[in-house]
Amino acid sequence: MADSVRKRYLELSDEIRRHNLLYALAKPQITDSQYDELYRELEAIEAEHPEWVTPDSPTQTVWGDRSDAFAPVEHVIPMMSLSNTYNEDEVREFIERVMRFEADDDPRLQANTGRSKPSAMDLFAIQPEYTCEPKVDGVGMSIHYREGVLTLAASRGDGRTGENITANARTISNIPEMLLDGPWTEGWTEVRGEVYMALPDFHEANRRREDEGLDPFANPRNATAGSLKLLDPNEVAKRPLKFWAYTLLTHDGPLSQNPDLRLHSERLLLMKEMGLPMVDWQMAHDADEVHHYWSDLQNRRGDLDYEVDGVVVKVNDLQLRDQLGSTAKAPRWAMAYKFKARREVTTLLAIKHSVGRTGAVTPYAELEPVNIGGATIRNATLHNEDEIQRLGVAPGLRVVLERAGDVIPKVISLAPDEARTGEYTSPTVCPSCSNELVQPEGEVIRRCVNISCPAQKRGRLIHYGSRNAMDIDGLGEKTIDLLLEHDLANDPGDIYALTNEEWGALPGFKEKSVSNIRVALNTSKDRTLDRLIFGLGIRMVGEGAARALANHYRTLDALIAASPNVEELEAIEDIGTKIATSVAEFFRLERNLTVIGKLRTAGVSFGTLPSSADTSEHQAFTGKTFVLTGSLDSMSRKQGQEYIESFGGKMTGSVSKKTDIVVAGDSPGSKLDKAQSLGIDVWDEPQFLGHLRDAGIKL
Ligand code: IVH
Repeated sequence: MADSVRKRYLELSDEIRRHNLLYALAKPQITDSQYDELYRELEAIEAEHPEWVTPDSPTQTVWGDRSDAFAPVEHVIPMMSLSNTYNEDEVREFIERVMRFEADDDPRLQANTGRSKPSAMDLFAIQPEYTCEPKVDGVGMSIHYREGVLTLAASRGDGRTGENITANARTISNIPEMLLDGPWTEGWTEVRGEVYMALPDFHEANRRREDEGLDPFANPRNATAGSLKLLDPNEVAKRPLKFWAYTLLTHDGPLSQNPDLRLHSERLLLMKEMGLPMVDWQMAHDADEVHHYWSDLQNRRGDLDYEVDGVVVKVNDLQLRDQLGSTAKAPRWAMAYKFKARREVTTLLAIKHSVGRTGAVTPYAELEPVNIGGATIRNATLHNEDEIQRLGVAPGLRVVLERAGDVIPKVISLAPDEARTGEYTSPTVCPSCSNELVQPEGEVIRRCVNISCPAQKRGRLIHYGSRNAMDIDGLGEKTIDLLLEHDLANDPGDIYALTNEEWGALPGFKEKSVSNIRVALNTSKDRTLDRLIFGLGIRMVGEGAARALANHYRTLDALIAASPNVEELEAIEDIGTKIATSVAEFFRLERNLTVIGKLRTAGVSFGTLPSSADTSEHQAFTGKTFVLTGSLDSMSRKQGQEYIESFGGKMTGSVSKKTDIVVAGDSPGSKLDKAQSLGIDVWDEPQFLGHLRDAGIKL
């Protein structure tokens, strides 16, 4: 009886998996209710026989909306942590332990020498190998592929049980939904690796959070962990997470029998062939080579666009790994050789306050200069009043300072032997204009609400010309400070009106630099509407909200006309009540309309409504979901995205049956294969450019 139930259970599991795959491929063979029936039968058997439930049972995996997110997932093989060291001698000891173990245990050696204690020469002859991989500072994740198709992704959790985060993992653009062709498309394969946020994306995400009045993430790892925990995969998709793989486990199928996968290095190479994202790694044969890799990577650390906090050294031979085994927490065959902590102790000289473009007053620490990892640090952020109270810091005390990657240095605690101090009193007047500060209820941040406050004015001007706003080359902090010193500009409108003579009278501005800034200013007049809206510096309006407003209204005048109506603004996707209220308030103020008037006089483009000639093309993009894969010769991905969105299209990171068009540039990778297998329209670069030209873009 139990046998036949078991048989039915396995049949059902396979059947449901097959339908999941067909569904993912947009070729369902049964109706949703037939599917639900099979699913309920499976659930009923599992309720009777919980011992049969494996992590990749259809009930444990998320398929679109067909199962629960965040359900617990037992790892087939525990996801262990690593023992850590900062010390070269401990790495040498680790390597000696491995060598001694192999020597003691190697029957060849005993037979050859007849001695039980091996000599150094013997050791040399059987030297084991190691792989050295970067230890990317992110969050570990396991991904299961069945027949080459992603069926389950789980967080590490406590190492034995993680959480089902499949729906979120599917939004990570460099994780293939389907592996490339090869023997791994039969059977069950598990890939483990790190989810991380690249530094430029991390900074961008934090800028956006600050624009929207949220606390910034402390570091890329926190940003990654926070993003993976979001309940709405659509929100996760907006966070630019990435993945790279470092472990391949073959549970069944031809790969699990393959004798050529006895070395970890062979598996790393194979994962590349499978179409998985990998970072650079290297072989090492002894402690010197490990140390060399470590010190080379430590030197390059500042140039990488992701955070690396050390090197993971792993025994290459899997059989030897088995023999070495593990302690309760960590394997004996691997070790994390971490980089020097970028922390130093220094004296806090003063607590000062800066005023941002929106009037937010933020405390920062002025420090006795100290060198951390090659950079001299004089200032560090203190976030807000609560943080200062929590740290218990005060001028004259020594503090621990941390500089992680190119993240702004921060004070993380008092030095161990310092006593906490009493109260910190926050300023009541603006450090820049002496106007009284206000503290909105429920907020920790105090604000200066004087619109003519010089610090705010400076912040607004810098923001207008910044890379993600109007992108005006040469209009950086230095130039803005010169303009302010010479009382030449109060707002962006004034900058366009400056004459060559006025520019030329500024110190350091020769003929060439005057002509450069004029060209940059002229070029900026044709920027897209979303950049202009973002550049205006409306509180709470980050790049995403600016894009949503631009796509909806298409001209600045239409937005201004609609702005008193908060309800109308709120009805736009991605625009919440706070943003809508802030937009309405901004355009209500006469002084902002005056600035806008100056921009209009200067000839800054306020966007265009689609003419009747391009309406059809506009509609062809509207409602269409695009995926851009590979690199384009004629523009960056970001530009491509801007064009797609400015014609009403939507860009997503991964190909699914909801994708309408895949634009494939150079080295398109597995997304192209997937698009082809799903029968999705693929445009190459010339076709894409052709559509943009038809839509009226001059290229
Ligand atoms: S191997 C037992 N390789 O570091 C093997 N882990 O401290 C453990 N990590 O949880 C995993 N880069 O999230 C491995 N190249 C790498 C890694 C790596 C980063 C993370 C991983 C793990 C943690 C252990």
